[in-house]
Amino acid sequence: MKLTRRYRFAASHRLDVPALSPEENRRLFGKCNNPYGHGHDYVLDITVEGAPDDSGQIVNRREMDLLVGEKILERLDHRDLNKDVPELERVPPTTENLASAIRGMLEKAWTLPARLVRVRISETERNIFELEA
Ligand code: NI
Repeated sequence: MKLTRRYRFAASHRLDVPALSPEENRRLFGKCNNPYGHGHDYVLDITVEGAPDDSGQIVNRREMDLLVGEKILERLDHRDLNKDVPELERVPPTTENLASAIRGMLEKAWTLPARLVRVRISETERNIFELEA
């Protein structure tokens, strides 16, 4: 059985590859290349899989919230993704790269009995990224 738990955080980013010219960056990223950055209200869905235990739960919600809170939300919420997240230091902070970074952070820290199976992140209503774990 699978459980998807939803979390939210807000963060800012600017998409820019320093090795490319300003024109190439504008062509690649459009207004996401604007100099002062912009913010998103990200919706993060984390899916776990397992069998319900004696308490009838796949995972203890509080334990999951503590882990996600400490390892993900505290590190990303109200942050500048270009500067504040070492995992994104060497890559543009696109939501593709953010999704990979979040999966890596979760896999590294995962101690819950249920298996981590999917990370899905919505940047906007139209851009939703999904990664199997
Ligand atoms: Ni953006």
